[in-house]
This record gives sequence, structure tokens and C-alpha cells, in this order.
Amino acid sequence: MKIAVISDIHANPLAYESVMEDINKFIPDKIFCLGDIILGGYDPNYICEKMFELKEKYNDNFIIIQGNTDKMIAQGNDKLIKKTKEVFPCMGYSLENDIQITDKKYIDFVRNLPEKKSIELNGLKIELVHGSPRKQDENIYPSLANDEVEKMTENSSADVILCGHTHIPCGYSLNSGKTVINAGSVGRSMTEDKMPVYLQMTIDNSGKFFVEHRIIKYDNFQAQKNILARKLNHIEDLAKMYV
Ligand SMILES: [Fe+2]
Repeated sequence: MKIAVISDIHANPLAYESVMEDINKFIPDKIFCLGDIILGGYDPNYICEKMFELKEKYNDNFIIIQGNTDKMIAQGNDKLIKKTKEVFPCMGYSLENDIQITDKKYIDFVRNLPEKKSIELNGLKIELVHGSPRKQDENIYPSLANDEVEKMTENSSADVILCGHTHIPCGYSLNSGKTVINAGSVGRSMTEDKMPVYLQMTIDNSGKFFVEHRIIKYDNFQAQKNILARKLNHIEDLAKMYV
């Protein structure tokens, strides 16, 4: 059984299409999306439409959960916008505008997504989360002490925990026997070269699994031009994250 795990697309169609080209060659049985499909990109409606298309094509074999920024868009109140503008101006102005430009049916879609999902495949228990099993916006990133990751995952009974959120791919094999894998980010990768990352996972009939992070090339300079065209306050700070 082959699974493609994508996360943190953040409304970046160019990055998404490059990743999907690779995924389509992999020919997965299932696709998991770990949230943050929108906020701070250049075309939230395009990406939401693509999520609808994946649902249409894969039915129950496409599983998508909600990320913290999906939740911010869904909450979308003035107090949250004001606070975000204060602590992270470029994200605050994008949040304000994203709420205006995103189709209401897509905002309802991200509002109703589950925060987590558990699934058992060939006897392997898998939990999908955005940040960590205990918190939607908690960071599981490289170089954390194993004990810390144990604490973050102690309320999960899964064998494998798949997460995103930090935009940096990594993996942990814990003393408790759990494996924790951060899939990285499709649309706003925080790796050195800023290239999209996703995860390919293969599970054999006995539940033994193999994983590989895939790094995909795309035209990040064009994506940067596309985001600068939004002409929002502080948009250049968002654009800097692309290259
Ligand atoms: Fe994110």
C-alpha cells in the first residue's frame, strides 16, 4: 500500500502542482493532507478547489485534517486579525485579505475539517495531526530531545504519528516504540533551498513500513512574483520566505 503525505500547502499552486506531478508518478493508493492548505499564499481558492478534486478522485482514500492557519481563516474575527497584525504583520494583513478573497464554501470546508484522524492500515496504527497529538500548533522539528517528543505524543496510541506545521521535515524513533514523522511543507518550505517536501510511505501486508521524504524542484522565483502581486502591506516579508 502506497501513501503520499502532503502538508502546509499554504495556497501556493506552483509548488502544489510540482509535488502532484511527482505524486502521480508514485501512483499512491491514499493521499493524506495534514492541514494548513491556505493563509499567506497567493491563491487560496485554487488550492481548495484542488482539495475538492482529490476528494472526488480518491474518495475515502483522501484524508485531510485542519491546520492552525486553516482554523485562523475559519475563525476570522477582528480581534484575531488585529492580534496577528501586531505579532506577525505580514501574516496579519494576509489573514485579513485571505478571509475576503476565499470563497465562503471553502472557508466552511476548512472550518469543518477534523483536527486529527486515526486510521489502521495492515495492522499499523497511524495518527494524523497538524502540530502534535496534544496540540494543533505545537512544533515537532529537528533536534528536539527524544524525551520532549515522547511527552508530546504520550496521549497517542498510534504506532506512527504523521505531522507537519513546522515546515521542516524530520523524523523520530522513540523508546516507546512510536515513530514520529514530520512531512515538511509543500508551499512554504523552510528548508535551506525552500523547495517543496512531501512524504512517500509504503506499508507491506504485515504492517512493516518504509518512508522517504521527497524534495521537489519548482520555480520559487515565479511563486515569489505571484505573491508580491497581492500588493498587501508587508507582503515583501511573505515573499522573502519563498527564496
Ligand atoms: Fe503551516
